[in-house]
Amino acid sequence: MIKKCMFPVAGYGTRFLPATKAMPKEMLPIVNKPLVQYGVEEALDAGLYEIAFVTGRGKRTINDHFDISYELEHQIAGTDKEQYLVGIRDIIDRAVFSTTRQREMKGLGHAILTGETLVGDEPFGVILADDLCFNEGGDSVMAQMVKVFRQVRCSIVAIEEVPEDQIHKFGCIDGEAVRDDLFRVTNMVEKPRKEEAPSNLAIIGRYILTPDIFDILRRTPPGKNGEIQITDALLQQARDGCVMAYRFKGQRFDCGSVDGFVEATNYCYEHLYKRGKL
Ligand code: G1P
Repeated sequence: MIKKCMFPVAGYGTRFLPATKAMPKEMLPIVNKPLVQYGVEEALDAGLYEIAFVTGRGKRTINDHFDISYELEHQIAGTDKEQYLVGIRDIIDRAVFSTTRQREMKGLGHAILTGETLVGDEPFGVILADDLCFNEGGDSVMAQMVKVFRQVRCSIVAIEEVPEDQIHKFGCIDGEAVRDDLFRVTNMVEKPRKEEAPSNLAIIGRYILTPDIFDILRRTPPGKNGEIQITDALLQQARDGCVMAYRFKGQRFDCGSVDGFVEATNYCYEHLYKRGKL
């Protein structure tokens, strides 16, 4: 049903300079895997095997990572080092990758609109690799959202409660609860000031979008910070029809910040690496 997943990966990663001067932030490793690989694994876990990268200048290594490295494979063939490539080889076998380039950085909404050519006229997932999500022993966040989509058939954003003094970093929703973990969106604001926030429910980097979002994005004027915001387009979609907000099970690390990145690294080391799951 949903088979495509878009990864907007054109951002500069200024918070990690100088590490990101010549290397995409999505290639920074959490223990021994680049951030973007965790995202692609989550997409595959949810059954989304057509991976659509919206990249920019300086992001070629992302494409190289999801391709065969003949020289390296030849070098380590038959040695005990081959085991380290099993996981990524499996991903390359199971997924299909396509790429388009975002020439100008005009916001997440603009990035998603740029990816239209790779997605076409079908519902699709969006994963922001900066938000690293785990749900140990259960469905991944995107897999949970695909299940919800089967029931609601409209765009869905993943949300979590955040402290009031953090809401200015996120898109914020207001909505009517239709069940404990699901809201019908009535309002959405991109990075509101604390006193203007309609709730403490923050959007995190997982979306399922229906393709009518593209026409809405084409008509969406620049919003917060002069950028075309997916949050603004989703509010329009909610007013025209329906958008749902899903409170996911699991935990999220903001790997776009140094604190979140270190927390994620410690978590992966303790919970995955030491248990032989990385
Ligand atoms: C983007 C979205 C924001 C969302 C966030 C989740 O912001 O615009 O609505 O809450 O991702 O990570 P960014 O963090 O890219 O500025």
